[in-house]
Amino acid sequence: SVTTDTPLAFRQTPSSKARILAERDAILANPGFGKHFTDHMVSIDWTVEAGWHDAQVTPYGPLLLDPAASVLHYGQEIFEGMKAYRHADGSIWTFRPEANGARLQRSAKRLALPELPIDLFVESVRQLVKIDANWVPSAPETSLYLRPFMIANETFLGVRSAQKAAYYVIASPAGPYFAKGVAPVAIWVSSDYARAAKGGTGAAKCGGNYAASLLPQMEASEHGCAQVLFCDPQEGKYLEELGGMNVFLVMKDGTLVTPELSGSILEGVTRSSILQLARDRGMKVEERKVTLDEWRRGFETGDVAEAFACGTAAVVTPIGALKAKDFEVGDISAPAGKVTMSLRQELTDIQYGRLPDTHGWMTRL
Ligand code: COI
Repeated sequence: SVTTDTPLAFRQTPSSKARILAERDAILANPGFGKHFTDHMVSIDWTVEAGWHDAQVTPYGPLLLDPAASVLHYGQEIFEGMKAYRHADGSIWTFRPEANGARLQRSAKRLALPELPIDLFVESVRQLVKIDANWVPSAPETSLYLRPFMIANETFLGVRSAQKAAYYVIASPAGPYFAKGVAPVAIWVSSDYARAAKGGTGAAKCGGNYAASLLPQMEASEHGCAQVLFCDPQEGKYLEELGGMNVFLVMKDGTLVTPELSGSILEGVTRSSILQLARDRGMKVEERKVTLDEWRRGFETGDVAEAFACGTAAVVTPIGALKAKDFEVGDISAPAGKVTMSLRQELTDIQYGRLPDTHGWMTRL
């Protein structure tokens, strides 16, 4: 792919309709998740001939897309999820942006989209947060959720790798992802559907994977569950991931276990950070194949002491119960696990600047 040798200068067009303070404050007081968007967005265009060009910060608004744009027909879309955190001194930081930039490149490769240079990715986020800094909330557990994404937008109905693409960043003030906050959730085991296939796009962060999760996610909601669990597509036996987050178990002996990266699991930045924090504490950590049966029986016998979901949006969310067509184990009214909550606390303490950043994970925006 074409890379830029010199950094692109961002052309800036401030919004003339930036919302008044009172309106913004009302949104920041109760942001929810993914409902409200800031006043600006970033866009960068790409063509085979010109590479990445025309980097802009513009007022937030609708995209003008040709009805034949390839993304609308063949789903060539990838995205990232990140957050900007306000520290007690008012400064604004983000967490491991290079890791998200590198993952966007891996997703681009798999979806035959152009790779955005990582420094340009980080700069794009910096540009948006700079102009919309007043949208970064400061209440506990709130942040500005950042959604970088890329689409193929060539006007052509032939099926081929992108010849023309556009990259965008939008931002949305965020509270907890789940409506009930950090309370334990129930998980529904999908027995009829898979999210990914061997050799498929499971490891890429592409819209199609999430589209495929929605019908089973509806099934999960109908059974009172907050997320759906997918098992491996070959045998339906090994845990892979949830609809939009990775999964961990804490065993009775204190070992932290998570499904190994199988090629069809998303390599979560939160997942790898939790693994690191656990290793730093001297916990025994295993990335391995985990059967659904091990989790189910473990919840029954107590061998699996805790379970949790993790992701940028979900942070670390305790899992209280596991439900399927033919069984139900656990109890969401039981208190959240101690290890789960202390890993959550440590991670968020680093992100919000309450603990020293010993791994160099934080970038000031
Ligand atoms: C994230 O955690 O940032 C994601 O992209 C997952 C999505 C379900 C919100």
